[in-house]
Amino acid sequence: MTVHHTRQRRHFLQAAAATLILGSLPSFAAEAGKLRIGIIGSGRVGSALGTTWAKAGHTVMFSSLDIEQDKKLAAGIGGNARAGTPREAAAFGEILLVAVPYGALPQVGKDLAELLKGKAVIDTCNPFPNRDGEIANWAREKGAGLASAELLPGARIVRAFNAVGAARMGEAAQRPGPRSGMPMAGDDAAAIALASRLVRDAGFEPVLIGGLAMGKHLMPGTPLAGERSAEEIRKIAATLN
Ligand SMILES: NC(=O)c1ccc[n+]([C@@H]2O[C@H](COP(=O)([O-])OP(=O)(O)OC[C@H]3O[C@@H](n4cnc5c(N)ncnc54)[C@H](OP(=O)(O)O)[C@@H]3O)[C@@H](O)[C@H]2O)c1
Repeated sequence: MTVHHTRQRRHFLQAAAATLILGSLPSFAAEAGKLRIGIIGSGRVGSALGTTWAKAGHTVMFSSLDIEQDKKLAAGIGGNARAGTPREAAAFGEILLVAVPYGALPQVGKDLAELLKGKAVIDTCNPFPNRDGEIANWAREKGAGLASAELLPGARIVRAFNAVGAARMGEAAQRPGPRSGMPMAGDDAAAIALASRLVRDAGFEPVLIGGLAMGKHLMPGTPLAGERSAEEIRKIAATLN
């Protein structure tokens, strides 16, 4: 290789590196700052994760069908927590946690319609026919990830926290020792990056098992349910399609 070619190659590599660095700036910036998180559904899962994230320095807005309950919840946490209506929480959050019974998702999709467009959403919701009725059978047939995407149109959905107990979600960040993996599925890289950060701040190691279609494996009663290491999750996920 001539000196000229070597120099050309060096310039190309420098330009490529600059592009990579600049290209990754927005997610890097989000990585550095704290997030505004809208919680839609502040029951067992929403309150546990919202509390953990507020303690980690993020600002959370709790919402449900009972704003008085949400005000009490927020007051008990302190400065990083507040309460609002589901619409206020959806407008507030740079990322949303949707943690409602699956049967409530069509209503959430209607109530928040325009606010969900382009929004990163962590979907913890699992369809259970005995609790959620016929929509759960439809969702199970379609696959929980793709079904949620149809019910929350335009949202950039990442499935996570689907098959770990809410109590564990609330204490994992304080637990000593190696972290459990958290299987996740999603199609949108930026939403996955934000969700991964919140998974880490909740005390788990994010493990992307594939696109949203793989969200059908993220449910209680599947091989990935429960807590296991990131490596075990990867091994199990490799056997699924
Ligand atoms: N519990 C677990 O260990 C666990 C673990 C993983 C995944 N999940 C899944 O995550 C989801 C949430 O579970 P959870 O145990 O947290 O349920 P939960 O304790 O019953 O809480 C559900 C929350 O959703 C709210 N909600 C219901 N309909 C709503 C609507 N239309 N708009 C806004 N908020 C609404 C409820 O508000 P009100 O109280 O005011 O009615 C409540 O705050 C479920 O799909 C569940 O299958 C649960």
